[in-house]
Amino acid sequence: MSIDLCKADDLDDRTARGFDILGNGRDALFVIRINDTFHGYLNACPHYDPSARVPLAWSKDKYLNAGGTHIVCSGHGAFFEPETGLCIRGPCKGAVLTRMAIEISSDGMLKLPNTSLTGDDNDSNR
Ligand code: FES
Repeated sequence: MSIDLCKADDLDDRTARGFDILGNGRDALFVIRINDTFHGYLNACPHYDPSARVPLAWSKDKYLNAGGTHIVCSGHGAFFEPETGLCIRGPCKGAVLTRMAIEISSDGMLKLPNTSLTGDDNDSNR
């Protein structure tokens, strides 16, 4: 069973939104919209082991830099490519964010397919 996240139209281009799908007061994953493509990532900076789930955003939904060109980690300033999750600058350069598969339903709802929160290599957005 998939999980409804939000309407795709609720996300403007070059914005991000986090989702507390576990209901523990913390965003487990986030989605960014870049040129009408949606990319989902686990909210866990690869500077540390993903099992530690060290969050990236300094505030709710603040996953991108001011220009909306890169994902930024508030911990130590790592920069990531939004389309790939590759870290291009910072202490984890060369590491990648854990991608989460995101689907869009026929009625325009962003959905998280039935997947574990450890990431999913079966991503249709790649
Ligand atoms: S915790 Fe993300 S760069 Fe250090």
